Amino acid sequence: MDVKVSSAKKIRGSVRTAGDKSVSHRYAMLAGIAEGTSEFENFSSSADCASTLGCMEALGARVRRNGNHVEVDGVGGTLQAPARELDCGNSGSTMRMLSGVLAAQPFTSVMIGDASLSKRPMRRVIDPLEKMGARIESHDGCAPLTIHGAKLKGMVYEPPVASAQVKSCVLLAGLFADGETSVIEPVRTRDHTELAVKAFGGEVLREGNRVSVRGGQKLRAVKAYVPGDLSSVTFFLCAAALFPGSNLVVDSVLLNPTRSVVLDVLTAMGVKISFISVEEQFGELVGTLKAEGDVFKGGVIRGAESAALIDELPAIAAVAPYSAGGVEIRDAAELRVKESDRISAVVRNLRAMGAEVEELPDGMRIPGGQKLHGARIESFADHRIAMAFAVAALRAEGETTITGAEAIAVSFPEFFEALGKIVE
Ligand code: S3P
Repeated sequence: MDVKVSSAKKIRGSVRTAGDKSVSHRYAMLAGIAEGTSEFENFSSSADCASTLGCMEALGARVRRNGNHVEVDGVGGTLQAPARELDCGNSGSTMRMLSGVLAAQPFTSVMIGDASLSKRPMRRVIDPLEKMGARIESHDGCAPLTIHGAKLKGMVYEPPVASAQVKSCVLLAGLFADGETSVIEPVRTRDHTELAVKAFGGEVLREGNRVSVRGGQKLRAVKAYVPGDLSSVTFFLCAAALFPGSNLVVDSVLLNPTRSVVLDVLTAMGVKISFISVEEQFGELVGTLKAEGDVFKGGVIRGAESAALIDELPAIAAVAPYSAGGVEIRDAAELRVKESDRISAVVRNLRAMGAEVEELPDGMRIPGGQKLHGARIESFADHRIAMAFAVAALRAEGETTITGAEAIAVSFPEFFEALGKIVE
């Protein structure tokens, strides 16, 4: 699908998005293993979370869905052996996190994914799960994964990569393992699994960067509202950054501190962000914020900040040429193993729009003060690349065509509709 985007003058209005993808995945998985019926309002409308629900259903949970309202009858412990392969679609979160649960089940299951997911690295979850006692067959470290479940032993694991998916995989396995399982993170990553396990009545201990769970805990169903997806909202915040005088209100959005680093970074780059309200729901911070565009300064993103911003970097990079001082992104080599090689995809698309950009092994250097022109943009079948360049197109001269724009359904099917409402 091709979508054409013309230049705009300003961003103005208010948005509320469907529930956060990361939180929805975890709620769906935990609801599937918990006892009782969980109910979620504002559940993510993403194809990725639909993949997770589909897998949980194939594993014996009963799922009823009416738009963003989702009900899950949990199995209350052990899942059922699936009659078919578990299709994770494009979703790395589904495959990596669910592999932790499957490793502890008394059956063998096979997880498959689309062409992009079948190329993504899975050794990062295979290694710890095999240390805990499971046996996993893969295609040279990639999907399909055949998981031979086993009685797992708790362990202390120090992942070599900063990854919330790996941490979550090990902690979910730990919920079924003998004794205690701990993960010591190299850098603190999003903590939705920890908060969600607690919301479902489980115990999680955190001491510094060490998180621990005990095996054999009973989880109870919850009724919860899923806060709006801050990574989706980031595209609109970056759009507001492009136009001084923009004014955007974002309702009911996730403000978890392990995710909201993007707000600090955009503030340092010149966007004026203020909070209208903040509250806690099921351990997650959620609130309403206002973003006003001013001089977009640019800056340097590196170290732990890059890890915390990994999903938001494509959007920031795509608008970087319009900043006054340019943007440098370092320590973000993980971008190369996302749904596409996001460093190469951003660099190619920026160049297609006439921008100067230096590609680095772990990031990119994008000078500021540039003028871009409309172009034919490739999504590389990657939702965040398609959306990032739809935003970059708003300040380009002439029209931009986003090809392969259907990829946005992976995380944010309503993106173009929502953008249309706030663009002037
Ligand atoms: C996610 C963690 C991140 C992120 C992904 C979602 C999660 O991946 O990029 O979109 O929900 O835990 P890594 O944990 O591999 O960095």
